Amino acid sequence: MTDFTGNHILSVNQLDRDAIAKIFETANMMLPYAQRKKRTHVLDGAILGNMFFEASTRTRVSFGSAFNLLGGFVRETTGMSSSALAKGESLYDTARVLSSYADVIAMRHPQSGSVKEFSEGSMVPVINGGDGANEHPTQALLDLYTIEKELTASLQTIDKMHIAMVGDLKHGRTVHSLSKLLAQYKNITFSLISPKALAMPDEIVSVLENAGHKVIITDSIEGNVDADILYLTRIQEERFTSQEEADLYRGQFRLNQQIYTKHCKSNTVIMHPLPRDSRSDANELDTDLNLNPNLAIFRQVENGVLIRMALFALTLGVSDQVSKHESDVHWFSRK
Ligand code: CP
Repeated sequence: MTDFTGNHILSVNQLDRDAIAKIFETANMMLPYAQRKKRTHVLDGAILGNMFFEASTRTRVSFGSAFNLLGGFVRETTGMSSSALAKGESLYDTARVLSSYADVIAMRHPQSGSVKEFSEGSMVPVINGGDGANEHPTQALLDLYTIEKELTASLQTIDKMHIAMVGDLKHGRTVHSLSKLLAQYKNITFSLISPKALAMPDEIVSVLENAGHKVIITDSIEGNVDADILYLTRIQEERFTSQEEADLYRGQFRLNQQIYTKHCKSNTVIMHPLPRDSRSDANELDTDLNLNPNLAIFRQVENGVLIRMALFALTLGVSDQVSKHESDVHWFSRK
């Protein structure tokens, strides 16, 4: 994909290294606006349809904030029950209707493939905010952007890095999309750590192996998390057929400062797409890590706004006009 204007962003499979570089270059340009050093009105009058048919905090709100930061308006719907989908309306019809109200649509839905099906009825670009266990391309982009920044700060590269992915690798759409993006780099070691029943799908392991990466599949943290990047994921209980089944796995993999000190390198970067499950029977990423400088989870969150601003600017064809529509910020802005 070289020209983003008017195109849907549905899967990381659309994005080669040149496209990724273009998105990251555009995201870098967004920093002064995201940090409220300056305003831009480049999308003044444009409307985002922010359609979230499944629970979300970060993705939904950061899509909305990103659009507002570019000067646009946001119309939003949340939950299936408050939409006419609950009355049997098809995704195609829903898309035809909603795309006549908006210039671009961000959408999350619990079924794999649903956002693509929706996009087929849409007259405006659709950005996938997560479709079931399938893909979460904007999360993967913000994760990759974060990995690149964190490694560059310690003079390392994505090529030749060691990444350990831990948790529910079967249902975790963020690790599916991130793995496919990372497959485009060179000589990475992937430690895929999960209960056997929640292992990374075979087709994604094949993508990594066929691209020449080393893949270690294990159910043990010990000896496998002395990595450059440690990427933890939540047990995706909403994808299980029963809560009892999900509960079998909750709390099996936990990271706290003591485990980090014992098993990780002194500079292992800790990532998690969030939400982390902080209930006592899970506590997968302990709050005692909050002061660890290698905990990158809140930097991921901030990078997500930059990436989503970049995707809006690119899909709406205004990435070269952002600074032409600048003005000052006249209210208190955080340091
Ligand atoms: N990472 C992520 O997708 O978070 P939300 O479910 O809160 O959007």
